[in-house]
Amino acid sequence: MTLTTIILTLLTLTPHLTTSYTPLSDASLRLIPSGNSDFDIHSGALLAPILIPRVPGTPGSEAAQHHFVNFFRTHLPAWEVEWHNFTSTTPATGDKQVPFRNLVFRRDPPGVKGGDVARLTLVAHYDSLYRPEGFIGAVDSAVPCAVLMHVARSVEGALRAKWEGTGGGDGLGEEVGVQVVLMDGEEAWVSWTDEDSLYGARALAETWSGEGQRGKDDGEDGVGVFSNRLESISLFVLLDLLGSGNPTVPSYFAKTHWAYEHMATAEKRLRELGLLETKEAKPFLPDLQKKSYQFTMGYVLDDHVPFLQRGVDVLHIIPTPFPPVWHTMDDDGLHLDIPTIRDWAKIVTAFVAEWLELDGLLPPLASDEKVGREHSEKDEL
Ligand SMILES: *[C@@H]1O[C@H](CO)[C@@H](O)[C@H](O)[C@H]1NC(C)=O
Ligand SMILES: [Zn+2]
Repeated sequence: MTLTTIILTLLTLTPHLTTSYTPLSDASLRLIPSGNSDFDIHSGALLAPILIPRVPGTPGSEAAQHHFVNFFRTHLPAWEVEWHNFTSTTPATGDKQVPFRNLVFRRDPPGVKGGDVARLTLVAHYDSLYRPEGFIGAVDSAVPCAVLMHVARSVEGALRAKWEGTGGGDGLGEEVGVQVVLMDGEEAWVSWTDEDSLYGARALAETWSGEGQRGKDDGEDGVGVFSNRLESISLFVLLDLLGSGNPTVPSYFAKTHWAYEHMATAEKRLRELGLLETKEAKPFLPDLQKKSYQFTMGYVLDDHVPFLQRGVDVLHIIPTPFPPVWHTMDDDGLHLDIPTIRDWAKIVTAFVAEWLELDGLLPPLASDEKVGREHSEKDEL
């Protein structure tokens, strides 16, 4: 073992030692909802409204923003809605200032200082490619956005149960919260360069690194455990290019492989319990056994880069190779694999529920959540 390997190993192991982590019981895994018909491409409440072109500064982009904000205001009123608005020129649009809007939906324990909350940060981009005209971007990234809406909805009841009456955290310092970031301007307008790409992520990372916690968003309590919003990101989980069949998502970073292991283990357990719909020979997350010396420096350029460069821990859930429909007109609703989407919805929800320590707190499944339910009832006979 070389010195480098030893260092990587230590980095890999440290979070294990410092994070308390209770796996979900089998009973809790059976209560993870799939989203069911909400991922229908024609009528699904989460997905169908955003299967439209969503180029920044166009009506489609505004429609997507309204869809997200209305969903949280209506169904998840305890989640604070935060707009991050800015403008930029692009190489395709000349001198015109194009409006970009990142959206952040934040759920902190009640009665806790904003600066004390370490937030699991779930990220996807909602903008779509400028060209070809009419491009939808179903896997890129309407589906990941819809999956994150589902995840937020699926953990809210358990979060409420957990925080009810306790006034939130234990008052002993760092508390655990969660936020969904729907990023604008991920795509290049002409061709990918450092300046023509990641408009939203670059602006948000810059704002969050310079911005103290003191401010109207965080109450008057001021700086706590964390001195800025970047530091308070416990893990940056980025979903991208999900929704095609047979995905293979490798573990990209030795430093956060421990988190990958948690998600891959959730997938494995859900599969073993017969709770997933896809019956692939190969799991979506096959790198459970990857060793620290097997990691290379290679990774996919995406919204995590400006955060990674500032030291944020990242878990990147993106398939390699990319789905065949990537950046073609075929990246539309009809080319999606809906069982794969519902399985991602379950896997990510299980990962988040485990992170937020919601074992035993998940409410009963809705009656239309038949998949897996029938199976689990059979198991219990
Ligand atoms: C950001 O933009 C949205 C929609 O364009 C608007 O409703 C909101 O008030 C703006 N927020 C700020 C802080 O400017
Ligand atoms: Zn793209």
